[in-house]
Formats: sequence, structure tokens, C-alpha cells
Amino acid sequence: MMGGVLMGKSNSLVVIGAQWGDEGKGKVIDYLAGKADVVARFQGGNNAGHTVVYGANIFKLHHVPSGILSRETLCLLGNGMVVDPLVLIEELAELEKRGIDTSGLRISGKAHLNMLYHRLLDEANEKLLGEKKIGTTGRGIGPAYADKIMRRGIRAVELTGFARFRERLSEILPLQNRFLQEIYGHEGFELDELAELYRPAIDKLGPLVTDGSQLMAEKLDGGKKVLFEGAQGTLLDIDHGTYPYVTSSSTVAAAAASGCGIGPRHISQVLGVIKAYTTRVGEGPFPTEDHGEAGEQLRTRGHEFGTTTGRPRRCGWFDSVISRYAATINGLTGLAVTKLDVLSGMDSVNMAVAYRCRGKEIRNFPISLEELKECTPVYESFPGWDEDISRVRRVEDLPAAARRFLDAMEENTGVNVELVSVGPDRSQTIIYRSSNLETWIASGSKKNN
Ligand code: GDP
Ligand code: IMO
Ligand code: MG
Repeated sequence: MMGGVLMGKSNSLVVIGAQWGDEGKGKVIDYLAGKADVVARFQGGNNAGHTVVYGANIFKLHHVPSGILSRETLCLLGNGMVVDPLVLIEELAELEKRGIDTSGLRISGKAHLNMLYHRLLDEANEKLLGEKKIGTTGRGIGPAYADKIMRRGIRAVELTGFARFRERLSEILPLQNRFLQEIYGHEGFELDELAELYRPAIDKLGPLVTDGSQLMAEKLDGGKKVLFEGAQGTLLDIDHGTYPYVTSSSTVAAAAASGCGIGPRHISQVLGVIKAYTTRVGEGPFPTEDHGEAGEQLRTRGHEFGTTTGRPRRCGWFDSVISRYAATINGLTGLAVTKLDVLSGMDSVNMAVAYRCRGKEIRNFPISLEELKECTPVYESFPGWDEDISRVRRVEDLPAAARRFLDAMEENTGVNVELVSVGPDRSQTIIYRSSNLETWIASGSKKNN
């Protein structure tokens, strides 16, 4: 009998960012990856910077799923991603130098390649936009996705042989050179020189290219535990984010299915990672942004500087208008609240419960950027706590004030908190008892992978 529907319930968990990125997804995924058979990225590229800390080890991952650090985990770069082969081989070399086994990595042949000219086009485009720039990571993400949609991209399957890669590049390059030369004043690239630059990447990555959907189907039908690793965040989603100040991919939970080539019925749980306050890098509206002392305190205490670009992150209080919106858009089944420890020692902590806009109080996130720009947060203030909570491992051991703040997050978001992170280390993690997440963690095993 065929697999699929008849093979029983899938056991997969999607983990996405519920704010503007950098919520601590890497930390949360690394913790959960220890219990997963497969970890798959489904969108974005090396604009992501996911930090994983255990003991004295600090890893900053950009393409490679955080699952690579866990034993016997298959890691997939899904078809929804844009992969920079030159950067990926460096990332792998760095991991291997540090003793990490990268043999579990596979790349979907349908993923698109983020090429050197995309990086140049990204930078040039930002320059042309001037004051209206997006504040991109400069990694070529927008141009790479644009070429995919314009049907002039190069897919990872072309990495399976130098001749086929060169052939596809020869079809694409003349047009790219015209853009570079005529619009952006760059001299352009010579075909053979550019193709040669990619030879080491072709040698290294070609053997990793596979049919990603088929691989996922086999794993899911075989009852394996699959973790989908989101990058960026809901408010950076190309459709649902603060357009045009967004990234160029679909960052929401539903994209896990199309971005790995599986059916949506396989997604059983959706965990939204959310900081106990809010940050954003790059341009665009941010209603709870705090330009005063609180914002500065959050940035300093939370070490809020970008993993990918080192830029200082804009900081402000927790915004439950956003968390409610993220709950709806993603169908969140649970919240993973990170960086609660950063709030220790503050006299009081604020949470936006609504916005005031054009004389009215609104509770729903507005779709118009103009309206959003005019929104000011309506805060509810909560008493702070002084205790250092970084060693707490049980919810009941958290200070009453911290628990009250978590309760308010649940009430205002309409989703249960299932995980609380009280420090960057893998061990600084609290799982709520009897939560769906606890059930997921306890279910199945990594055996027979
Ligand atoms: P990601 O892009 O969502 O994976 O997040 P980043 O790695 O870019 O940024 C999160 C930063 O916060 C990293 O430096 C993490 O090591 C750190 N971090 C994650 N969780 C916690 C936490 O609970 N407390 C503290 N203090 N730091 C954390
Ligand atoms: P992780 O996965 C935070 C932001 C950029 C910019 C916008 C567009 O680490 O959470 P892009 O280079 O994607 O075209 O930039 O999106 N951005 C991120 N912000 N975390 C990220 O990833 C981001 N990836 C992109 O700052 O505002
Ligand atoms: Mg990050």
C-alpha cells in the first residue's frame, strides 16, 4: 500500500520567528534538534544569522540548519531557499574545521542559487534607493528571488556538473551583464572566469544535491520527527510583513510546506519564537521602538547587535498587537519566549496591548504602512523583578513578577507559552510541563534514522 495519508500522523514542528527576526530561533531550534531526525530550512538564505551556544562553543549559522550541531540529524536546504554556493562552502569549511560532522547536509535541486552578481545588484539597488533604502543585509537575497520569479535563475541542480552549470550561466549572464553595466555602471563578468570561480563549490556541493521533496516524503512517511527551521520573522514576510521593508521570501509557517515540497497536512505544530521585548534591524516602521533609556538598556543588556551584519538593533518593549497578528498568520500552537533574563533588574516592564491611531484605539495590526507609521503603542505596565533568572530551570521557580509578565503575553496573544529561554546556552531552557511541545519532545526517537 502507498505511504502518505495511510501511514499515520506526521510528527513535524515548524519553528518560525514571530517578530522582525533575531528572536533566538537558532537557540530554540538547536535545543529541539537534539530530539529531531530531520531539520530543514525552507526559505531565505545567508541573510539569516542564527546563533547557537553550548558551553564554550558559539556557532553563527547562516545557511546551514542549526540541526547540523546535533548528532545523526539530516539537514536539508529546501527548495524555497536561495543558496550562495561561495558562502556555503566557506560556512561548511568553518564548521568542519571546528570538528562538526557536516555529512548530514543535503540541498534540494530546486533551491535557487544566489550568485555573485545578485550581491552586487543588492548593494547597487540600495544605493539607488538612497534615503528610501530597505536596509538589507547586502547578501543578494532580493535580486536572487527576483530572478527566480522572473524565470532566469540558476537552480542548485545545475551544481551537479561543471559543464551544465557553465551552460546555464551562459544563458543568463548576458542579461545580468547588461543590468550591471547599463544601470549600475559595473563592468560585468566574463563567462569562463565567473564559472571557474564556482568550480570548488560545484565539486563540494554537487554531491549533496538531491530531490528534497522525495527525501522529506520518505522521512515523513517513515514516521521521522521533522523540524522546520524558519529564518527572518513574520513581520519581514514578503506578503504579511511591513512591505516594502521586508525580506523577499515567505517567512511564515505555511511556507514550510511549499519551501520543502511537502503537503501542509504534515505540519502538526507551529512554535512561534518571540523575544520578551522587540527588536528590528534595517529600516521600516516599528511602533514600540524606544529611542530613550529603555531602548538603550535593552540593547546593552541584550547585546542587540546583528549576527550577520553587526548593525545595532533597534529596540523597544514587547508588542502584543504583533504577537496576536503572528499567532493568526502562522496558526501558532505555542510560544517560545526568549531573553526573559534580559528584563531582570528593570524597575517596570511594559507591554503594548493596542495601538492608538488617528484618534482610535486599534487591536489589529494595520495593513497600510502609512497607518502603521501613525500608530503609537498603548502600554500596560508591569512590576519588574530583580532576581537573576539565568539559572532557573522550572517555571515555578521564576519570580512571581516574571510569571505574571508571561501570563500577560499568553492572555494578549491567545497562545500558550511552551518554552522560556533564560540565557543563550542550550541548557538555559525551560519547557512547560504537559504542553504540546513537551509531548513532541518526548515522542518518537532518533533511532533507526
Ligand atoms: P535568530 O536569528 O532568531 O536565531 O537570533 P540571533 O541568533 O540572530 O539573535 C539572538 C541572540 O540572542 C543570540 O546572540 C543568542 O545567543 C542570544 N539568545 C538567545 N536566547 C537568549 C536568551 O534567552 N537570553 C539571552 N540573554 N540571550 C539569548
Ligand atoms: P534571522 O534569520 C533580522 C532584514 C534586513 C532588512 C530586510 C531585508 O537571523 O532572524 P534582506 O537582506 O533579507 O533583503 O533584508 O530584512 N533581515 C533580517 N532581520 N534577522 C534576519 O534573519 C534578517 N534577515 C533579513 O535587516 O531590514
Ligand atoms: Mg539572527
